[in-house]
Amino acid sequence: MTLSFRLIALLVAGVTLVVVVAAWSEVRAERFALQVELQQRAEIVADRLREAAEPALRANSVKALAGIVERLVARQGLGGVAVYDANMNPVAVSAAINDATGGHPSVGAGCEVPQGCSEFVSLAGRPLFAYTTPLQGELKSAALLTVFLDASMMAGTAGRVWRNALIFVVPQVLLIVVITYFVMQSAVLAPIARTARWMRDLRFGRVSPRAEGQPGSLLDPISSEAASLAQSLASAKASAETEARLRETADSLWTPERLRVGMQERLRGTRLIVVSNREPYEHVRRGRSIEAVVPASGVVTALEPVLVACDGTWVAHASGDADREVVDARGRVRVPPDRSRYTLRRVWLTPEEEEGYYFGFANEGLWPLCHIAHTRPIFRVNDWEHYRQVNRKFADAVLDEMRDVERPVVLVQDYHFALLPRLIKDARPDARVAMFWHIPWPNPEAFEICPWQQELLDGMLGADIVGFHIQAHCQNFLETVDRAFECRIEWDRLAVRRREHTTCVRPHPISVAFETPSDETADRPGGPGESTAVRPAFTPAEFVGVGVDRVDYTKGILERFLGIERFLDKYPDYRTRFTFVQIGAPSRTRIKRYQDLLVDVQTEADRINRRFGAAGWRPIQLLEQTQNHRQITALYRAAQLCLVTSLHDGMNLVSKEFVASRNDDDGVLVLSQFTGASRELRDAVRVNPYDIEQLAEAIRFAIEMPDEERRIRMRHMRREVRTHNVYRWAAELISEVAEVRVEAPDRLPGAMLTTVHS
Ligand code: F6P
Repeated sequence: MTLSFRLIALLVAGVTLVVVVAAWSEVRAERFALQVELQQRAEIVADRLREAAEPALRANSVKALAGIVERLVARQGLGGVAVYDANMNPVAVSAAINDATGGHPSVGAGCEVPQGCSEFVSLAGRPLFAYTTPLQGELKSAALLTVFLDASMMAGTAGRVWRNALIFVVPQVLLIVVITYFVMQSAVLAPIARTARWMRDLRFGRVSPRAEGQPGSLLDPISSEAASLAQSLASAKASAETEARLRETADSLWTPERLRVGMQERLRGTRLIVVSNREPYEHVRRGRSIEAVVPASGVVTALEPVLVACDGTWVAHASGDADREVVDARGRVRVPPDRSRYTLRRVWLTPEEEEGYYFGFANEGLWPLCHIAHTRPIFRVNDWEHYRQVNRKFADAVLDEMRDVERPVVLVQDYHFALLPRLIKDARPDARVAMFWHIPWPNPEAFEICPWQQELLDGMLGADIVGFHIQAHCQNFLETVDRAFECRIEWDRLAVRRREHTTCVRPHPISVAFETPSDETADRPGGPGESTAVRPAFTPAEFVGVGVDRVDYTKGILERFLGIERFLDKYPDYRTRFTFVQIGAPSRTRIKRYQDLLVDVQTEADRINRRFGAAGWRPIQLLEQTQNHRQITALYRAAQLCLVTSLHDGMNLVSKEFVASRNDDDGVLVLSQFTGASRELRDAVRVNPYDIEQLAEAIRFAIEMPDEERRIRMRHMRREVRTHNVYRWAAELISEVAEVRVEAPDRLPGAMLTTVHS
């Protein structure tokens, strides 16, 4: 039997019982009332009889008494009257009673109480009420009197009550059952059924754990309890799944989600602060509106996905002409502009500071010093002063950002901030600081050229971790420190022990995001699936080569052009069939060396185009405007080969971006042996960019490479970039620095601080 039927049966039984009990008690009450009424009437009749019989009694006349009895019965419409003597022998009995009892009614025998006795009797099938009372009179033979009243109305009343009860019980039961059923259905059963359905769907993960039902429903408290229980279960389940997923892919794929979850655990509630010179978004004026532009920068390409995943703070130089217009009072703005995933804290520099620190010391001094690309480094005292000043300015901004944060984790980026780790550590010994040097580190003899090498090294050794892209740069750095300072180098674990502080030196090859269609960034411009959506900004040819660089002398753009010239020289068949598209984003154009280079690049492209150009065809198409991610991705996908010919490069992310963009497993990467990337991308065609003959051969080799070989090489490289993506780089670097234990920072002065690496 279903629950509803059981409920209805119970209801019917319950209501019937109630009605029966009510009818029974009504019958009892009515009977009692009638009995009282009969009793009163009988007493009155008895009194009258006494009065009327008095003379007869006094005269001791039985005959007269019988006459009075008969008259009274007739007049009052009584059931009958009987008078007895003391021995209960009838003295005078009315005719009807006489007939019914054969003259001997034994009713009332033994009644001696003065107030009389009453009972119901049935004589000759007739229901009667008999009231017996003593007679006080002189007629000694007449001692008791019984008055019989018709009691048939008693049975009638009971019958009526029971009949009424039965007549009403059915509709009453029906009505109550129907009302109860509907109330139960709408207020209880339906919400329960809905809640049960929702809980089942929840179990199968088909709905979200939100409280089910309408507000005000009886089940509200249960629903909301169930919802919060479900929420806890859902989040426990999600964590378990994430954990399982992470365990499964522990040695392979790092995703933004894995980084986010993993870093939450590592950072344990503290904040990630990243510092770099270049900001990820420059707000620039375009007529009346303000646009957010992503600058061409390897550091920006690499760090943006990390900040998006961890929601940290990025402190950077404000370089856009509308930067001030979008920030709050502390120079902060949430970015990316359309998604608001992390905080950008801008630092403003005066033109003199920018000139001395950025163009001067960083890019005319350290940049050529570290790249060894045959451009002489220039070191000016004035630039050095600005460099120090700007490092202090950034330290102030970083310290301001971490003022409410305990044991913050700071990632200092690049050669612009060699002094920053020491400045931060001195002020905040509890901070855990990593410094990542994105450009090569030369041998000690080369670095010694810098007049302020000691100050730079001391600043860097304030960090707990110093990272480079490759092992060789770590080795060079340690040798440089070894020659510069009195300190202990632990060669077995690549660490410097100096002034009670340990700095670990680690290779962490940086990479790109390697977006998959499921990544959250997939919908951003230039994300996967857009190869055909963007029209390439060049004239197509049978074979297309591509180069994407800032116009910088370290990138080997001129050497690349010479290689193309030689290729067309040696293999004239490819003239008109091969086009090389060079995106050359102007860079650091306030520096004369860069201005000259820009002119050289244009002149060289023109010269080669003049030499080989034919109607409608130019071998080199130079696009000097900065292209966005979407346009560059389209270009990468349209090309047969990508030329990366850096004379020296810390890593070179263009090579990895090209590989990441080739979701068709096609395309050939020609890669300089002097890039950090060449250590990982072993399936690229490796070249020495100074060897022009080799460059020309590499271009031909790439164009003529059989399909199968091309795909195998590209698949290998894609696997490498996918597994060693930027999330893994960030996770390894952050994990390492987050594990640093700063011993008793409150008791030790900054200079005496002991840092332990686990
Ligand atoms: O590699 C060092 C680096 O700082 C990278 O971020 C980037 O590729 C390039 O130099 C950017 O230079 P800038 O910020 O001076 O334009």
